[in-house]
Amino acid sequence: MDDFAYRHGELHCGSIRVSSIADRFGTPTYLYSAATLLDHHRKLAQAFAPLQPLICYSVKSSGNINLCRLLAEEGAGMDVVSGGELHRAMAAGCPTEHCVYAGVGKTDAEIEFAILQGVGVLNVESEAEFEVVAAIAARLQRTCAAALRVNPDVDPKTHRYTSTGRKETKFGVDIERARAFFAAYGNDRWCRLTGIHLHIGSPVYSVQPYVDAITKTLALIDDLKAAGHTVDTLDLGGGFGADYETGQSPEATVYAAAIVPLLAERVRRGLRVILEPGRTIVANAGILLTRVLYMKQSGDKTFVICDAGMNTLLRPSHYDAFHFIWPTAPEAGFVPLHRARSIELDGLTLMDVVGPICESGDFLAIDRPLPPLRRGDLVAVFTAGAYGMSMASRYNSVPLPAEVLVEGNEVRLIRRRETWDDLIAHECQA
Ligand code: LLP
Repeated sequence: MDDFAYRHGELHCGSIRVSSIADRFGTPTYLYSAATLLDHHRKLAQAFAPLQPLICYSVKSSGNINLCRLLAEEGAGMDVVSGGELHRAMAAGCPTEHCVYAGVGKTDAEIEFAILQGVGVLNVESEAEFEVVAAIAARLQRTCAAALRVNPDVDPKTHRYTSTGRKETKFGVDIERARAFFAAYGNDRWCRLTGIHLHIGSPVYSVQPYVDAITKTLALIDDLKAAGHTVDTLDLGGGFGADYETGQSPEATVYAAAIVPLLAERVRRGLRVILEPGRTIVANAGILLTRVLYMKQSGDKTFVICDAGMNTLLRPSHYDAFHFIWPTAPEAGFVPLHRARSIELDGLTLMDVVGPICESGDFLAIDRPLPPLRRGDLVAVFTAGAYGMSMASRYNSVPLPAEVLVEGNEVRLIRRRETWDDLIAHECQA
């Protein structure tokens, strides 16, 4: 489901014209649909219901506390990767026992904070980290639960920057080392090592890498049990896809159809399953609204210069990621029927959609077929809810954009646009 649709020739979010939001809050603005966000979460929960998983929303994908709160109210836990994200999850009202905490580089202060706040599971990524966690827990005289992140060496067939389940990434420990890890640390008094964590990559558009990773991991769990260890939690991580192009990603039911049968019997026997989805829940729940500042011709190229760029949405320039881009009120005859790289409509021109940042790598799209555009037009960048605002920066001293949430007929500012004063607020006066 996706609440962003063209009606009477204009892009709407539910019943609200998105241009009314740009007029009211300015641009660039990230605009989210609560209905879409919750629908995606519910679909996932329904598809995986036989496993009764704890669905821990991946805060890094889009961490505004208002979005996290909507999901926490639905019973979601949170997947966090820093003390800051745990702080966010708590501010959003998520119980800390429903939080799982991963990351290769947790600081001592972050570990102490997580233990004291009673985080549900610490996903530990190395021997050295386990020793630090155990020592801190012992010093605090507080027990904590840990899962070992294993690297199952499967190929998720995704961008190399977000491929995490193969050998020789910095994440987790090789699955072959897991036995020795449990032998060394499985009986720690303060840090109770009773889980396995996986996260193979993001986005993963086929189910086979999950099946392969889970199959390897279940064999490991059997081995560990035979060696006398308790393994009561299996965290499958995140990575399910989103439709950047219409129909690109499998539905939640497709992932579930392959994964549920592998785990259902284990769950009946007491295994707790955790999922850490981010993108699949929030990507299509958000768009980026940006205004055309200038049109420019350079050689054979047509540039659309917008007020959003790599500072606002890094994904195109960082991963060569595709985001469908279209004016919110296109000229008659140019309403898109679906979202795709190539659109069959007469009268489109190839354009580079770029931002204001002083780098040639600052683009939102290259050679994109687009309808006529002019200064002042409002343009939507679709499927921008995940890893959009959360990866935005203040590069070139451009303040961070606003975030707005549509909930039914209600439009709420959930993050005010930063000001120039905000840019220097943390700098010490000489
Ligand atoms: N769990 C762990 C341990 C992760 O590292 C991640 C994402 C997730 C869960 C959530 O993955 P998701 O369900 O959202 O795919 N910035 C990149 C994506 C980086 C993903 C990092 N880890 C992008 O814009 O595509």
